[in-house]
Parts: sequence; C-alpha cells; structure tokens
Amino acid sequence: MIVPVFDTAVTRTYGTRLPIVAGGLMWLSDADYVAACAQAGIIGFITAASFKEPGTLEAEIARARALCGDRPFGVNVSMLPKLVEGETVAETFRLIAGEGVRFVETSGRNPEAFLPILKDAGIHVLHKVPSARYARKAEAVGVDVVAIVGAECGGHPGLDMIGTVVNQALAERDLTIPFLIGGGIGTGGQMVGALASGAAGVVMGTRLLVAEELNAHPGYKAALVEASERDTELTMSSVRNTIRTLANETSATVARLERADPDIGIEALMPHVAGTIGRRAYQTGDVSKGMLSAGQSLGLTDAVAPMAEIVARIEAEAGRALARLHALTTPEALRA
Ligand SMILES: Cc1cc2nc3c(=O)[nH]c(=O)nc-3n(C[C@H](O)[C@H](O)[C@H](O)COP(=O)(O)O)c2cc1C
Repeated sequence: MIVPVFDTAVTRTYGTRLPIVAGGLMWLSDADYVAACAQAGIIGFITAASFKEPGTLEAEIARARALCGDRPFGVNVSMLPKLVEGETVAETFRLIAGEGVRFVETSGRNPEAFLPILKDAGIHVLHKVPSARYARKAEAVGVDVVAIVGAECGGHPGLDMIGTVVNQALAERDLTIPFLIGGGIGTGGQMVGALASGAAGVVMGTRLLVAEELNAHPGYKAALVEASERDTELTMSSVRNTIRTLANETSATVARLERADPDIGIEALMPHVAGTIGRRAYQTGDVSKGMLSAGQSLGLTDAVAPMAEIVARIEAEAGRALARLHALTTPEALRA
C-alpha cells in the first residue's frame, strides 16, 4: 500500500507517493529504470523510440509490468515530426494500447490527431511542451495533463526558450487542466515552489540520470557528477530543433558548424548528431562524443545513488521547504 504524502491530481492519477514524473529518456529509461521509479514512489516512462526492433517494445513493457507489480509506469512517445512519420506514431500508440499500458507521455508535436486512439483505449495522456502557449493549445485539444518544461531542461527546450519560473506563473494564470512544471527541477524545495504556483507536480530528467538503476556506464554517471550547471551547450537551433546537451567535442563541433553556416541543414549535421553515437557513449562511458541530453540541473547531480535515496532526499527537502513556509506564516494568516 502506498501512503501518499502529497495529494495532487498527479499522485491521484498515477497512485504515486510523490507528485514527480520521471520523463522519458532516449536510450536510458527502460523497464529497470521505471521499476526503480515505481519502487521509489514516483512514475517513470519507458521511451518507445529506444525499442524500434519488432517485438522489443512489447517485451520491455512486459518486463516493466513484471518488475513494477501493482505500481505505475508509462510509455513515452516522442513525436518530433523530423524524426518520425505520423503513421509510425499511430502504430506505436496502437501497440501501446494493445499492451494495456495505462499512462502515456507525449512530446514533440500536437497530439490531437492521435488522441482518439489513446482515449478509446482509456489511456491517460500527459503531453509535454516547452512553453505556455503550447500548453494552452494542448489543453484545447483535450490532453489530460500538460507538462511545461522550460529552457533549463535537458533535451529539447523548444524554440521560445522561456525559463521555468515564467512558465510556472503563466501556467497558473492560463490553464484549467492540471499541469506539471519541469526544466531545471531537481530539489524538493523547487517542487514545493511549483506546487505553490498551482502545479500538480514536477517533471524531472537530468537529476535522475545519476540513479544507480539507470543502465548506463559508470564513466557516464561519473561525468555527470563531475559536471556543473555550466556544462551544457545549446545547439541545433539552425534546424529548428534546439537541444541542450552535455558540453563535449560533439556539441562544440555542431556549434562551430552552425556558426559557420546557419543554413547548414540536418543532413550535414547528422554524422555528428546521430543517436547511435550517443548510445555508444552511454554504453562505453566515453562522453567526449555524442549528443548527450542534459540540463542545467547537472549542478544538482552530486552523487550516484539508488533511485530510492535520490527520491528520499527530494522528499526530505520538500518537507523542509514546507516547514520553512509554515514558520514564515503568522498564526493570524494560518487562522484566516
Ligand atoms: C538524457 C535525456 C534524454 C531524454 N529523452 C527524451 C525523450 O526521448 N523524449 C522526451 O519526451 N523527453 C526526453 N527528455 C526530456 C525529459 O523527459 C524531461 O522532460 C527533461 O529532462 C526535464 O528537464 P530536466 O532535464 O531539467 O529535469 C530527455 C532528457 C534527458 C536528460
């Protein structure tokens, strides 16, 4: 039995102890990862795009179900138009629905065309966007929950590059459906701040990359522990696909190529940015090459630890933040 400490639309929907969503991580969020999330009292999402060979996504979902037991997990489907055809996306959703998955995290484009497949299967849809204007659109087309992930984030911050604190205020003002806030979130204090602004929870990616259960080479995790909030680089804006990654040889090369020729185009960048290069870095621990998504909360990834320990630390931080707020509030205000 999970005893909820926080009671929000997110904890109620997913049945988690904490209102924390571990967003999909290309090549990294597999069954072991989402099971570690589930055991720690949060929900994680397997990235469908990491399991492209026939039968492998089904097998990973089965593995996650066995490992999670009655605890929740979901599947992330990135729909970046440049990466996947609409029909492939629809097929993935049909497969997920057929497997009885209950929770989906979508990102990368307007999910409207695919919502009937998901709704008919009774799947709960969390759609992730980079700024408030897309969140308003997502609400209008009928997603269940929207996550706004700001410029600080690892991976794709979108083109607007709006910071998380501003997203938070705009979401509170403009949205009616439950929303999550992400991008640079890595502590319980930040989580309480987001909840105070009306969020139903937070999305984390970078902070959880140093979880022991994440299937990546120890050298990769050591590099993340070593890195600070200053060690990310933004590239790929020239092809309207901005990405924040760990600063390394590849990001420097791509930045240089884009500066030299702003019309360079994706074909010329592909030999550097291909996902298979990044995958190799996760396997070998040599982080000098590959586009390795990572956000500014690299400043908070100070040790490799079991997921449960990372989450317990965030929970303790949240407790301290709540106590701090309580201490700052006068008895009169509490009675009012
Ligand atoms: C290594 C890595 C891989 C990611 N891959 C995906 C992905 O495949 N699909 C997706 O929707 N988001 C992806 N993201 C974004 C995360 O799910 C999450 O939204 C983001 O990391 C939150 O911001 P933060 O990194 O500041 O915590 C990735 C992020 C990282 C760090």
